[in-house]
Amino acid sequence: MFVNKTKLPHLLLPEHYSSQSQYEVEMEAMFRPQWHWVGSLHDAPGDGDFFTRELFGVPILVRNHQGAYHCFLNVCPHRHSTLSSECSGNSPTLKCQYHGWGFNVDGSSGRIPDAKNFRPMSGGPECLKKFALAVHGPLIFVSLDPSCPPLTEQFAPFASVTDEFSSDRWAHAETWHYDFPANWKVVAENTVESYHLESVHTDSFRFEPEDAIEHEIHDGGTIMRATIKSSPWSTRFSNWVTTQIQPGCSPQYRMHHLFPHLFLMRTDVMLQVMVLMPTSPTTCRVTVSVFVLRREHETIWSKWLTRFWGRVKTSAVKKILAEDASLYPGIQTGMEHSPFKGCVSTREELVHALQNHVAEKCGLRSEASRDEVPVRVDAPVSNEGGR
Ligand code: FES
Ligand SMILES: [Fe+2]
Repeated sequence: MFVNKTKLPHLLLPEHYSSQSQYEVEMEAMFRPQWHWVGSLHDAPGDGDFFTRELFGVPILVRNHQGAYHCFLNVCPHRHSTLSSECSGNSPTLKCQYHGWGFNVDGSSGRIPDAKNFRPMSGGPECLKKFALAVHGPLIFVSLDPSCPPLTEQFAPFASVTDEFSSDRWAHAETWHYDFPANWKVVAENTVESYHLESVHTDSFRFEPEDAIEHEIHDGGTIMRATIKSSPWSTRFSNWVTTQIQPGCSPQYRMHHLFPHLFLMRTDVMLQVMVLMPTSPTTCRVTVSVFVLRREHETIWSKWLTRFWGRVKTSAVKKILAEDASLYPGIQTGMEHSPFKGCVSTREELVHALQNHVAEKCGLRSEASRDEVPVRVDAPVSNEGGR
């Protein structure tokens, strides 16, 4: 069931998908002040394990300290070296790779080699810069903005997707990246609409009839629920695998979009996570991870089945994303030359919800939004069936 009953305006103009000024506004108003999915518990599973990343050019280091995760700016206060240049590793203590300054879990400096030569140290020893970190299910999030509201607030309507099972039940299958030649909104809008499935994913990804699709629109994102169309054989096989791993697990497809850039997809015993990071006005980097549930009491057989299902699901997701990827250059080219306003159907209403979020955050109100006011299902429609 859809939220709206009538077609919707295309709130963003084509130029909003390629302009440098729009890109800069989005970065300041939407992306930098946001929580970002930077990795998963399996990236640093043991005490002292760490991984490093770049978040919008800012080097960060995430470290597991006795099972708790902490995030630091990956820069040493002594003479500015990165603490570690490795993508991941293990160190018994948090220590700079250059002169070996040690740091405590709160970022305060610990052992400083030859410390007497730093006397007097005005204002006390230097500290690492620490960033906010939150864990949801198997996922680790970081915010560079100290004033960012708690992730739990933003996550509330979507929490069931990660809270349904304890984080250690999720086995990581694979993580991979794409660099797409398209504005991030091209990819995001394509991800949240099911209208293109029939023409683009003819053999790989279809839903049961559209009246079986359910949409929810929240302030912080959207949810789509649908039933995936598959052959009787494939449905039977999938149900059998699911029953082996988690009896009673819902086979329904659920896609949670947390504005602006995070997607959590659940179906049977699989969790797919996808994040879009803008890299320029016309390019973005996409990171995807697939997780599969472990059986509560694992056996050799169930471990094998979880690994097997991870490979099956990963390969299905890659096929679908490759089909979408083949469209992005054409959509981006069209955006850069379009004289049209565009329009959005009720089936594409989650695209409208994202555009509305972007327009509000960026202070945009296009001509289109003044022309047409959508009608929601719970409102009376005077010209039902009209165009
Ligand atoms: S730069 Fe880190 S200890 Fe010198
Ligand atoms: Fe698609």
